[in-house]
Amino acid sequence: MDSQAKIRRAIWEQLQCATIDRHHAWRLPVLANVDEHGLPQARTVVLRDAQETYQRLMIYTDHRSPKALALAANPSSVLVFWSKALSWQLRVSLSTRIETRGERVEQAWETVVKTAAAADYLAPQTPGSPMPVHAGEPAESPAFAIIIANVLSIDWLELAAEGHRRALLTPDEFQWLVP
Ligand SMILES: Cc1cc2nc3c(=O)[nH]c(=O)nc-3n(C[C@H](O)[C@H](O)[C@H](O)COP(=O)(O)O)c2cc1C
Repeated sequence: MDSQAKIRRAIWEQLQCATIDRHHAWRLPVLANVDEHGLPQARTVVLRDAQETYQRLMIYTDHRSPKALALAANPSSVLVFWSKALSWQLRVSLSTRIETRGERVEQAWETVVKTAAAADYLAPQTPGSPMPVHAGEPAESPAFAIIIANVLSIDWLELAAEGHRRALLTPDEFQWLVP
């Protein structure tokens, strides 16, 4: 395997690791997008799945949240990862799709429903709305959704004392860049 293929493989291995290892720095990337006013938005999310074969990442969210509504209108987004242990930053350009039903959503909900996080998706109020004086009844059905993020390109940056390295990876190409 040449060095470019090794870097590509290592990136996806680390992304997959992050979906399993709670202590992996890449488990908590920042998801950035542009909202309906054209303004930048960014927030921490949990990386739930990473599949190199399909060039796809997955995040869970509340489909009532501002980010879900904004991504439905404009699917372009970026996930930013930094790992001190690896000295690697990833800026992953994505095209997203929000799924609220279907087998994948049901399977994911099966795992979430067993955890305390399930309550978040059953909250009566929309995330980001002003806190009401009186708590309402839990939502009848969970507002659970999956963000399917198709990877368009990965900007990989390695910081190293002997010289930084940077590359742009698309599914078919690998281009070294000036760091
Ligand atoms: C450590 C951490 C992990 C989080 N994980 C998620 C997540 O996986 N999905 C999610 O929708 N929000 C997650 N959040 C909350 C978001 O950062 C954000 O506050 C919330 O989703 C509202 O974002 P929005 O107003 O842009 O929709 C997480 C926050 C923190 C601090």
